[in-house]
Amino acid sequence: MIMSSSPYLVNAMLEDVDFSVPARLLEVGSGKGVFTREIIRRMHPHSSLDVNDIKREYNPWINDLIAAHPHKQVRLYNDCVTQLLREQGPYDVVVSSLPLKNLEDDRAFLYRVLEAIRDSLKPGGVYLQYQYFKSNKQDVENVFGKKLSGMNFVLFNVLPAFVYRMVK
Ligand SMILES: C[S@@+](CC[C@H](N)C(=O)[O-])C[C@H]1O[C@@H](n2cnc3c(N)ncnc32)[C@H](O)[C@@H]1O
Repeated sequence: MIMSSSPYLVNAMLEDVDFSVPARLLEVGSGKGVFTREIIRRMHPHSSLDVNDIKREYNPWINDLIAAHPHKQVRLYNDCVTQLLREQGPYDVVVSSLPLKNLEDDRAFLYRVLEAIRDSLKPGGVYLQYQYFKSNKQDVENVFGKKLSGMNFVLFNVLPAFVYRMVK
């Protein structure tokens, strides 16, 4: 991880999530928790949040956030997202920082990841994903079998990013 996502990108990803209702939320690729912090702050008291990162090295940051919000239902999972999604779900919202572009070398794996996310969503559930240079937009659309439901551009981030919104 070179640099965490900016507050502008965090806001753009989360602005269309309806936090006023209880929901099952999943965050994938949490890193040190720049999205996690904001999701925990905004989430409904009766919502649950599963936080996933394949690496353990970021656990101290996520565990600190969990400890600071004992009344919020938040669990951390260190696993590949494909493994987690075999056991958990269904979700109302998936917020993903997965670097899809980096997974491209193994397209079968990239598609397994996207299909696992699709399958883990409830009908009407929302998948939010940021990417640079509109990469993998077509792959997301292929897997969901339709065009993105929305796309925002966030200039103030290193690098500028597109936010994909896909409603299942
Ligand atoms: C670009 S970082 C995002 C960090 C932070 N959310 C942000 O936006 O600044 C991507 C994260 O995805 C995690 N990741 C990569 N492949 C993964 C996989 N297959 N399953 C779960 N997490 C994965 C990496 O460990 C890394 O922390």
